[in-house]
Amino acid sequence: MKNQETQRHGRVVVLVPAPFQGHMTPMLQLGTILHSRGFSIVVAHTEFNSPNPLNHPEFIFLPISDNLTAHETSFKNPLDSLLAINNNCKAPLQENLAQMVEKKAPNEQVSCIIYDSLMYFSEAVASHLNLPSILFRASCALNLLAYHDILRLHAEGQLPFQDSKAQDLVPGLYPLRFKDLPLPGFGTSEDSVKLIQLLSNFTTSSALICNTVDNLEHSAVSKLQQHYQVPFFSIGPLHKLASASSTSFLKEDTNCIEWLDKQAPRSVIYVSFGSLTIMNKTDLTEMAWGLANSGQPFLWVIRPGSVHGSELTELLPEGFEEKVGERGCTVKWAPQKEVLAHGAVGGFWSHCGWNSTLESISEGVPMICKPYFVDQKVNARYLSYIWNVGLELENDSERGDIERAIRRLMVDKEGDEMRQRAIDMKDKIEACVQKGSSSYSSLNNLQEFILSF
Ligand code: UDX
Repeated sequence: MKNQETQRHGRVVVLVPAPFQGHMTPMLQLGTILHSRGFSIVVAHTEFNSPNPLNHPEFIFLPISDNLTAHETSFKNPLDSLLAINNNCKAPLQENLAQMVEKKAPNEQVSCIIYDSLMYFSEAVASHLNLPSILFRASCALNLLAYHDILRLHAEGQLPFQDSKAQDLVPGLYPLRFKDLPLPGFGTSEDSVKLIQLLSNFTTSSALICNTVDNLEHSAVSKLQQHYQVPFFSIGPLHKLASASSTSFLKEDTNCIEWLDKQAPRSVIYVSFGSLTIMNKTDLTEMAWGLANSGQPFLWVIRPGSVHGSELTELLPEGFEEKVGERGCTVKWAPQKEVLAHGAVGGFWSHCGWNSTLESISEGVPMICKPYFVDQKVNARYLSYIWNVGLELENDSERGDIERAIRRLMVDKEGDEMRQRAIDMKDKIEACVQKGSSSYSSLNNLQEFILSF
């Protein structure tokens, strides 16, 4: 396979994805797209949360020894874990790539390294090896823009902000309010600032790729272009540009598709909070009764480990299953893109991770937004306030609030109107990935850019 690929093109792109589902997926999708355009793809990945090579026989996988402790892979202190990944992986990646660059035949030239912003050590490795590097952002453009404002607000002594300011708009960062700022939400305020500095400061990389759609967030993209003064490629949604192949760490339970087949069109609310969110047992109980009392059919992902202190789906409250019967389906992990594209799904109650957001609006599915941390708050603001395809649900919502939100989205006229707007967005997004449109042109430009190295 390797030699075949080399004959096809002769240019190798090294990808350095971050070991999280929401980061791994879009990076592998980018790899699939670049591969389809003739590049050979090397995926340099940590041992922790490594991708399954069997799902991508067209790529070359290069494991990097990460030496992470159990505490570091638990991400109980995300800053410590991130520092450990970046410290531990630097030397092994450098050694592996140095050997690769040395051994390659002239027609197997390593063109560049494309690295996830969480794997910022890659920039130094690329510089050391005299290779160009390109930063990849798995979240929206406005999120990166907000990082710069957080650093400014911190320098001006405006962070942490007073509760009384939570609903105020942040000057220069429309439409975000102080409460929507993508602060990491763990550790001290100093920890947050340190993390944001690490993630937004790149000095020698020659370009920036963002999994976004230009006409969805034109203003943020333009501002970032001005700020960084390097080529900026808005290429998204990547899942619509890449052919489908599984990137899931967990096994997808496809039985839920059969269950969806039996439901009425647009009647089901799909519920999933992504790969990292952890809730407490009270939240789970309120969710369960909110869903049960709404009267709507629902498909609910309860990811193992997503409830504090337990691995068990038996955490569902007593009497819940009897009450919902066949109206509810729970799974540990769903084939989410297939679910959102299914005609029975009429709404998505989500934590608003950026992948989930793009996947939902690409299928014309309106959302209930319950963001937990970092960029999820920015995405929820876009959904509920700018695009008007999402209802905001406050944290600590109780069963009554949840039931009302579900009925507003799934039954009321308000929800129908949101659904219509979401369908309009779907059409616009489809247009953006067609030949000659913004994301497609951006992809052509990226290809030319890499070939120019
Ligand atoms: C995180 C952040 O929340 C996100 O905003 C950031 O940009 C990337 O990292 P995560 O919290 O996991 O990711 O959410 P999200 O970005 O939505 O990614 C989750 C992915 O898992 C999606 O591609 C979704 O399709 C997939 N998924 C989720 C499944 O395939 N099945 C499920 O049951 C749940």
